[in-house]
Formats: sequence, structure tokens, C-alpha cells
Amino acid sequence: MANVTVIGAQWGDEGKGKIVDWLASRADAVVRFQGGHNAGHTLVVGDQTYKLSLLPSGIVTGTLSIIGNGVVLDPWALKAEVEKLSGQGVKINPDNFALADNCPLILPLHRDLDGLRESAAGAGKIGTTGRGIGPAYEDKVGRRAIRVCDLAHLDALDAQFDRLCAHHDALRAGFGQKPVDREALLADLREIAPFVLQFAQPVWKRLQTVRKAGARILFEGAQGVLLDVDHGTYPFVTSSNTVSGTAASGSGLGPSATGFVLGIVKAYTTRVGSGPFPTELSDEVGQRLGERGHEFGTVTGRKRRCGWFDAVLTRQSCAISGVTGIALTKLDVLDGFDKVKICTGYRLRGKVLDYYPAHAADQAEVEPIYEEMDGWHGTTAGARSWADLPAQAIKYIQRVQELIETPVALVSTSPEREDTILVRDPFLD
Ligand code: GDP
Ligand code: IMO
Ligand code: MG
Repeated sequence: MANVTVIGAQWGDEGKGKIVDWLASRADAVVRFQGGHNAGHTLVVGDQTYKLSLLPSGIVTGTLSIIGNGVVLDPWALKAEVEKLSGQGVKINPDNFALADNCPLILPLHRDLDGLRESAAGAGKIGTTGRGIGPAYEDKVGRRAIRVCDLAHLDALDAQFDRLCAHHDALRAGFGQKPVDREALLADLREIAPFVLQFAQPVWKRLQTVRKAGARILFEGAQGVLLDVDHGTYPFVTSSNTVSGTAASGSGLGPSATGFVLGIVKAYTTRVGSGPFPTELSDEVGQRLGERGHEFGTVTGRKRRCGWFDAVLTRQSCAISGVTGIALTKLDVLDGFDKVKICTGYRLRGKVLDYYPAHAADQAEVEPIYEEMDGWHGTTAGARSWADLPAQAIKYIQRVQELIETPVALVSTSPEREDTILVRDPFLD
């Protein structure tokens, strides 16, 4: 197995960016295959911090970075991110960055609709990132999307524009909004087109060439399995499949190419946005996790909700996504706790469950069953080898892997790239 697929195994923000950046120096290509600029990945290298939303995290090490067809692409967000990173000294050019020509675009009308729906939903809102992700995916499967390749043919796009605008104008009218300004949209697309098109190509073909040359491909997932549109806490999910299988369909390589599935797992649990969260702590322990873990969203700056590690949900995510091994991140955030708890089951109306039920009402009602362990004295922060870890922290790691029925391949002990313990090399597995 030469390739590795990285996915989040909880509700996102598990530390995927840090791990992809760390693995990228061993890879020949890094591919984003779903989501869009709703993602926020923070990489810390020495005294530099990089915040990425759309660009694959491999770009920082200069590894060939590819945005696959499964991503929804906001061209203006792409330009802004390329400019921001170039300003930090990261080299981005058509030699090291490729964009799928069949990628659907996120347009301002998608962002409008996302915002209008969320405002109208009041307390029932999903708590989206407001980036237009859901509406853009709807237009993709509704066969109304404008895609990257269309930017080279804007003069011949009347029929597609008619279909798209007719759909959006009806929705906008329902919200008391003006129709789409077609001329302004076309003018904006004409202006941004050359920037986007310099990177556009049939990515499936580029990947085929890379693969034939025996290169190692790293697939970079965004969000997490619990936000998957099928397997997550529906309807409080994102609008794409975040599971490992999407690496194939979202890049144009078959499932046999996806290789070792590395699930990124935070040593506790966080969630940003609305929706059920069985182990959520609204007391001072939750507060402490949030402060120690700096749990604020990269994209929206929202405070992340925090709670104990949920082994039931993580076991389910690992099973659904066929996780081969996990990277356990942010272990250092648990340093200094006298006791730590792990959720090992749920109670629902007198019954004990060993899985998370599908129905939203059941999901909201389950009560966690906890196992308590002693915390550890000493610190894991900055540890780079197994031998640096306190014995009790090792017990915690062992208990986690036992409960989720999946082995640990990596442990992360700080935001810094090199503060990482390699237990089992995913590329050599
Ligand atoms: P992603 O969306 O999965 O890439 O994760 P984010 O970047 O949104 O959030 C993870 C945050 O935790 C970032 O600020 C990282 O710099 C930071 N981080 C990653 N790994 C560790 C770790 O092991 N310990 C600590 N303390 N912070 C970490
Ligand atoms: P990374 O890649 C955490 C959440 C939003 C909201 C729901 C739907 O950084 O892990 P959307 O804008 O996608 O329609 O919002 O999904 N969400 C994320 N939460 N990390 C992310 O990405 C997320 N991307 C979306 O907060 O609850
Ligand atoms: Mg994030």
C-alpha cells in the first residue's frame, strides 16, 4: 500500500491539516477530494502559522497539490488564499498546483441562499459556515452547476445560466430578494476566469500519470465522518460525503488507489455549529478543554463546543470509513486533568446501546455511559517519542484503541509539525 487517505473521524477540526502537512514530505502528491472553503486547516511550522481552507495542506511543503472534482470551488476564495499564502512565501504555480476542470463552482448566489436559509431557520439553523457549500452541491446534483471548464466558454453558457438563474430567482423571490444580476455575475466570472484556468486540467489524467510512475498519493479529507451527509448527525451535517470512499470518486481514481485509511481522532471531542453532541460539557471542564485546546473555528472564529472522548461514535466512524489506523491528536490538551472520562455506551429510554442511532430525536436523547480513568502527572506536550509519554497517558492511548477497535499509527502532542510520534508508518503499511 503506497497511498494514504486522511479523514476526520469526529466532527471536523481533529488536526487533519497538521497531520497531512507532516505526511506530505513523504508523498509525491496531495489531493483534496470533497468539501470546499468551509474547511479550516491550521499548520504550524517553526514560527510560521499557515491557515488553509481550499488549498491542499501539501502546498506548504511544495508537494504537488491537487483539487479534485469532488470539491466545490469558490474562485474568489481560491484567489484570495493563493495570494495570502504567496505572501507568506509559499510557492504556488501551475507546476505544483492543479485544479480539476470538472469541479463545480460556488457563486455569490450560493452564499446568498446559504445565509437566507440560515436566517429564516431561526433556532433550527444548522450553523453552517455560510460559504454556500450546501446550495453549490445541490446545484451540482441538480445538473445546474457552472463548472471550472465552463469558464473557458462563458459566451456559450446561456442555456446553463438560464437553468441556474431560473432556479435561484424562484428561491430568492420566496425570500423577498431581487433576481440574480446575470450581467454582473458574468462580468465577475470573466474577470476571474484567467486566474482559475491557468491551473485547470483533467486531474484524473494527471493522477493516472502520477500513479503509473509509482508515486505516493496522499488524499486529504475535509470535515469529519460525523458531518457526512449519509452517515453523520443528519440534518446537522455538511453537504458532501466525508468518508474515505469519496477519495476515489472525488478525485477520479478507483477505490483500489486509496490505500491506508488514516482516521484523525482528537483525544477529546469538539463540534462547531448546531446538532447533537452526547458528551458535550457545559461546565468548567468543557471550558478548560476549550481554553487549553484553543478551540475556536479557523473559518468563522466561532467557539467550538467541547466534551469528553466518545469511543462509541469514533468506533462507528472508523468502521464506516474502513479506518486502518488513527492519528490521535491533541493529547497534550488532557495534560493536568486528575481524572479523564471516556464514553463507552449510551442509555436510551432504559436500553443500553453500543452504537449511535440514526434518528435525530434518539440522537438528541441518548445519555452517555462513562468510564473514568486517572489522568497523568507530567506532560505529553511536545513529546516526539513513545518513551517521552507518562505511563498513564500510554494507558489512555491503549484504552482508546481498544475501545474503537482500531490501532494508533501516530500521536500528535502540539500544533508544531515535528511534535509527532510515529508508531506505524501509513505509507509503509
Ligand atoms: P483540521 O480542520 O482537522 O485540520 O483541524 P484545525 O486546524 O481546524 O484545528 C486543529 C487545531 O489544533 C489547530 O489550531 C492545530 O494547530 C491544533 N493542533 C493540531 N494538533 C495538535 C496537537 O496535537 N496539540 C495541540 N495542542 N494542538 C494541535
Ligand atoms: P474542517 O475541514 C468543523 C460544519 C459547520 C456546520 C456544518 C455544515 O476544518 O474539519 P457547511 O458550511 O459545511 O454547510 O456547514 O458543518 N463544518 C465544519 N465543522 N470543521 C470543518 O471543516 C467543517 N466544515 C463544516 O460548522 O455545523
Ligand atoms: Mg478545521
